[in-house]
This record gives sequence, C-alpha cells and structure tokens, in this order.
Amino acid sequence: MCGIVGYIGPDEGREILMNGLARLEYRGYDSAGIAMVGADGRLQIVRCEGKLSGLGGKLASNPVSGTVGVAHTRWATHGRPSEENAHPHRCGPFALVHNGIIENYASLKQELEKGGHHFASQTDTEVIVALLESERRKTNGYKQAVRNTLKKLKGSYAVVIINEEEPDMLVAARKESPLILGLADSSFFLASDVPAILPYTRRVVYLNDEEVVFLSREGYSIESLLDGEERNPEPQQVNWNPIMAEKAGYKHFMLKEIYEQPRAVIDTFRSVVDLDRKEVVFPELNLGKAVLDKIERVFIVACGTSYHAALVAKYMIEGLCRVPVEVDLASEFRSRDPILDDNVLLLVISQSGETADTRAALKEGLDKGAHCRAIVNVVGSSIARLAQGVLYTHAGPEIGVASTKAFTTQLVALYLLAVHWAAQTGKQPRETIEQCVQELIELPGKMERILSDTDKIDAWAKHFKDFKDFLYLARGPLYPIALEGALKLKEISYIHAEGYAAGEMKHGPIALIDAEMPVMVLLRRGPLFEKMISNIQEVRARDGIILALIEGEPSEIVGPDQNQFVIQPSSEWLSPVLFSLPLQLLAYHVAVLRGTDVDQPRNLAKSVTVE
Ligand code: AGP
Repeated sequence: MCGIVGYIGPDEGREILMNGLARLEYRGYDSAGIAMVGADGRLQIVRCEGKLSGLGGKLASNPVSGTVGVAHTRWATHGRPSEENAHPHRCGPFALVHNGIIENYASLKQELEKGGHHFASQTDTEVIVALLESERRKTNGYKQAVRNTLKKLKGSYAVVIINEEEPDMLVAARKESPLILGLADSSFFLASDVPAILPYTRRVVYLNDEEVVFLSREGYSIESLLDGEERNPEPQQVNWNPIMAEKAGYKHFMLKEIYEQPRAVIDTFRSVVDLDRKEVVFPELNLGKAVLDKIERVFIVACGTSYHAALVAKYMIEGLCRVPVEVDLASEFRSRDPILDDNVLLLVISQSGETADTRAALKEGLDKGAHCRAIVNVVGSSIARLAQGVLYTHAGPEIGVASTKAFTTQLVALYLLAVHWAAQTGKQPRETIEQCVQELIELPGKMERILSDTDKIDAWAKHFKDFKDFLYLARGPLYPIALEGALKLKEISYIHAEGYAAGEMKHGPIALIDAEMPVMVLLRRGPLFEKMISNIQEVRARDGIILALIEGEPSEIVGPDQNQFVIQPSSEWLSPVLFSLPLQLLAYHVAVLRGTDVDQPRNLAKSVTVE
C-alpha cells in the first residue's frame, strides 16, 4: 500500500530514489512522484499517473536533481489514480509523501478550508502537508511544527517530509505503517521496506510507532512523538542481499519465486530441524512445553493466502496435537470481540508482517491476555515486533504480488510448529515425530521434480486460457489448496475461479457445471480418494471438464492421461505444499498467455497496510 523512499547524503539522489521506487513498486502502482531540493535551493516536483515507467519518461524531459529527496509509488485510497492525487503533495516550502490513511482528514480539511486553504487533490495526504504549513506559520521552529502536526492526525501513517527552507534535513515519522531507516557511511535512507535500500546498505533501524526521525547530512536523531524522549535503537544487519530482490533472468518475479520454493523450504526448516536427532527446536518462538501444556484452544488468524495456510494448519495441529483450532479471517476476528484468555494460543500469519487487519487481530489477542505468536517472512516488521515470539519463514523477499514461496514456506513453518508441539506434549510417539522430520527432509526433492516437468501445465494453460470460469475441488488438508489455486488464478489472470470443499459441491456449485466449466480436482491417495472419484463422476455426468492433480500415478477412472498431472506421494500434512506448485504455474502461464501484468495485477498491492 504505497511505497515511500527518502534520501539524504553526498551523492546525486535521483537514481537512488528511482531505484528504490522500482523495488517498492509491488506496493502500489497507480501513480508515482519525486521531489528534490535542487542546487538553486528550490523544490522540484515531478509526478505522473500510472506506473513508474511513466515517471521515468517524464523525468527524461523534466529532470530533477539534488542530494536530498523523497519519492512515492501509490496505491489509491482517497482520490482516484491521477496526477493531481499523486504524491509528493506540496504546500509552501514543504513536500510530503505518505503511506496510510488519515481518518480525521475531513474535519482537518474543513478547518484548513475555513482558514482559506485551497486543496488541489482529493487525498487525505494533502491535508497533512497543508496542516504542517499552517502549524509552521504559528509555531516557532520547524521541528515543533512537525510534532504539532503529527499529534493532530488520527489513523495510520508513514511520512517523509522535505523542506526547501531547511534543505539539509529530512523528517520522517510512522504510526501503524512501516518505515525503516537505512544507514550507510555518510548517507541516510528511508523506505517502506528493505528491498528499496539493499543496493546501498544492509544496516537498518526499524522505526517504532509514534517515533519521529530527523535526518541531517551529519547524522540522525529519533524521538518519541508523545513525550519527546530521545530513542537510541540499535541498528540491525539485514541478511537479505540485493540479488535476492532481482529477477535473475526470469521473465517475472512470480516465476522466479515459484522456482525458488525448494530452496526457500530448505532455508525455513534448516535452522530449526536437528537432522541427526530428527527433532524440531525453535527458541525464538518462545513456545516451550510449559506454555504448550496450558493451551486449550488455538486461533489462527490471517488474510488472503496466509489465511489459506492457516486453514491447512487446522488439519495439521488438530491431527498431530489433538488441540481444537479455530481459523479466522483477521478482518472478521478483530471485529467480533473473540473470547480469548491465557489458555488460548493466538497465532497470526503474515508474509509482510504489516497487514493492518492481522496486526489489529494480534493487538486484540495481546490486550485479552492470550499467548500471541506470529509466523512472518519480513524480519523486523510490525507484526514480528509486536508478537511474543516469532517463527520466521525464510522465503527471502517476495516481490510478485501473488504470493507463492511465502505460502509454501508458511505451510512448512506451520508443520514444524505442529511437529514440535506433538513432540513436546507427547501427543505423538517418537517414531511418528522422526517420520514427520524425514518426510520434511524429502520434500524439497519432490518439489524439484514437480517443477522440472511442467509440459502438461503449459498445455493446459494454452487450452483453457480463454475459459470464463474455473472450479477447484478438494477435501481434507487439500481443500485450502483448492481455495488458494482459485485465488491465484483470479488475482493474476482475472478469470473467475472458485475453490470448494468437494463435499459441498452438491449443495450448490453443481448447478454451474456444464461443458464450459473446467473443474480442477486435487486427488490424494487415501481415505478421501473414493469420495473424490464420486465427485468426478458427478461433474462428468453434467459434461464438466475434469483436470486432475493426482498423487502417485494417473488413474483410468479419472479420465484421459493428458488431463492428469502426477504429484509425488507425500504425507497428508505435506502434500498441500506439493499440490500448490502446479496450481501456481497454471495461474502464471494462463496470465502470461492472456497478457496480464503478472507481477503487478490490477487493483492489488502486495501488502495491505490499510483497513
Ligand atoms: C495473495 O496472493 C495476496 N498477495 C494476498 O492475499 C496476501 O496473501 C494477503 O494480503 C496477506 O498478506 P500478508 O501475508 O503479508 O499478511
């Protein structure tokens, strides 16, 4: 939801800012803009509707230059995508970029209009910069004017401000929207997310809510907005490298990220599995036997793809640990006054660690005294810092808006948690635990095999790319994978797709089946296989077209060979990882053939940091 970058230092900043935006474009791509103070001491601002490439074009004929600047890529909330609504917004000597939502912007705007201010945009952001200008006229000192302005804002924000009257200073602040400070020798960077600054530094300070940072060319100071107290957080070293945030020869980030999954899965379990003793140990999660013995109920809460991972975890944890699990969408959980106490484990899952609803759900859990833990990909993110313990997925930066490697690594992290829990509480015998660890060790090899033989998926994509609707059916732990497969297809190819528990087909969706409806069925060998075969017969009896992902080998009863893609046999709990891969690839190839923008699908942004 909007990417922001700031730079102050000895070097020309335009390329640094544009590079940073390119690495943050996954956060929003409705419009983009840049503001710098030039050699003449004047603010220069260039903005453009649409993608960053448009801004690049505009800058070619209207260059800006300087050693201090801010830049922005927008995902529209208040005001449609247009140049007038693009950031940076300017008032007097100030230009400002913002990520978040100002909830009281309407009343602030009214006040400012009464005072004679005329607004040029429909955004909540312009209100902040106008308020700053008004405060500056009333207040002695720029810093104090910034503090007064920020204190009047309700809602969420990460802001970076440039001021042509104080050209050797950048000011930034955050509240419930991400913002990091990057430190290099004599340069300072601000960004919504780490990839923006990776080419320049890996030393970062994760700013906290309601902290303001004043950056000069000599150094920086951080203070609490509420009481002005100085803060001295220890800078941290990020272990991502710049190459990880590049396409590495792939046509799209999504394809690269699909193929990175075996590596990402290994990285996720490598540091927490003792391969010799076949045990799982993760101290950072802070979830030892004493706590686990107390837990009577588990809530797993997330949004989107992470919610689908949570649904799989219900099967894993109930199956292996015999503890009841409820799974909730974060937006629903946070608003229904859930019944929580200290016998509850609240587990939130988020790739970005910044999703507003998931973060709010976590706060709800903390306020109500539940044991709150998180599974997160981005180190130092808000959710990672709020939770009482974190299990990190080691997917590396995920740039494609459609989540792929983040999802499969979440499944692995959840599996690790379930195995650890079962071992700690003695719910499963030692041999079962060892078998679970062995299955995990074999998983990346099976993933490689699936990813290396995808001709059939390519052929399906070519044949079905122009169909209007798809249905995905599965049972048990594969049911959430049907949901995820449908989500992948709709978000990047814009084809309508529904995922359903196969047992529910007769209760409604069967009415949709005809010769124009491809039905993707997910078939694992085991107790649910025969029931899935019955579903297939029901679809076929209504002329529906069956495509199958089938474990082990093709089956005559399912249909012709060319409509079956074979998945390596695996355990009930890990097969969801394997079945996910062909569905990601199918969505990807269909989208490419339809000519959509795979990495930046329309209307979406990678992390939803607003409600
Ligand atoms: C899925 O492809 C989407 N990118 C989206 O559903 C995503 O999973 C959701 O917004 C949750 O994000 P998070 O994991 O960063 O919290």
